[in-house]
Amino acid sequence: MHAIGIDIGGTKIAGAVVDTFGTIVRQSRVPTPAGDVTALEDAVVAMITELADGTESVAVGVAAAGFIDASQSVVYYAPNIDWRNEPFREKLEARVSMPVIIENDANAAGWAEFRFGAGRLVSDMCMLTIGTGVGGAIVASDTLFRGGFGAGAELGHVRLVPGGLPCGCGQRGCLEQYGSGRALMRMAGEIADGGGIGLGLARVREERGKLDGRGVGDLIAADDPGALAALKQLGGWIGQGCASLAAVLDPQLFVFGGGVAAAGERLLEPVRRAFVEHLPAQGYHPEPEFAIAELVNDAGVVGAADLARVWVQRRG
Ligand code: BGC
Ligand code: NA
Ligand code: ZN
Repeated sequence: MHAIGIDIGGTKIAGAVVDTFGTIVRQSRVPTPAGDVTALEDAVVAMITELADGTESVAVGVAAAGFIDASQSVVYYAPNIDWRNEPFREKLEARVSMPVIIENDANAAGWAEFRFGAGRLVSDMCMLTIGTGVGGAIVASDTLFRGGFGAGAELGHVRLVPGGLPCGCGQRGCLEQYGSGRALMRMAGEIADGGGIGLGLARVREERGKLDGRGVGDLIAADDPGALAALKQLGGWIGQGCASLAAVLDPQLFVFGGGVAAAGERLLEPVRRAFVEHLPAQGYHPEPEFAIAELVNDAGVVGAADLARVWVQRRG
């Protein structure tokens, strides 16, 4: 039984037809159209239509970067996209011939990791996606946690710094402002301005016109001291956030996805260090594992498709 998963990102829309084992049997990718939400909707409809052609898919799961309602229909709010009470499911179902559910993008990725990736062997895990924003997913007792209104597990909007940097959610000091890809670019920029270990970053900024994921990522991979210092700052904040999350959720595993997770062990090391330092009941609380997502860029589409398929089967 196949289902279609669509993952709407800041730069690209990815889509795939996925089987029961989480294997992708067909896929597609287009740049996210700039401008209004109608262009975005058109691109999603075109992709679903293309993927559905010739494959017998039973449902579509759309992973979207925002607060979603309990009926998985409406995007209440998206900090980094122009969605406000967007009835996305209704709009899509009017234009495609299959049932559609809308799922939070990080929930979809976390579910994929739990079913088919890094979280296969645990019952309780927490995932953070580190990209433009910081997304969160919670699997508790083998179940994806959604909260009472559907909009739970927004782990990027847990407050880390009272009175801190303003966030796209309307609040201040959220983890997203200290632990996202954008935050990494900001930290890298500050280090570049300071000279010394920042010279490598300053050079790449000059060459590329700005510090972007690619430029900073390459420097991290080359162990540039300035880029590693920025990553260490970021990891320190994420580790602190995870220590508080452990007090609430007590997961056996934290999984990290999104573009910044490509830094691998170089990211996990400062995260673990800060986690241990800030963990309540330190020295007595069992320590969870920290891992990088295994499904990398496919987690969103695979998870969205699987959740859509499970939902259709339950509905009967
Ligand atoms: C949004 C989340 C989303 C995350 C990652 C956050 O800003 O609030 O809904 O999962 O970004 O895209
Ligand atoms: Na979430
Ligand atoms: Zn926020």
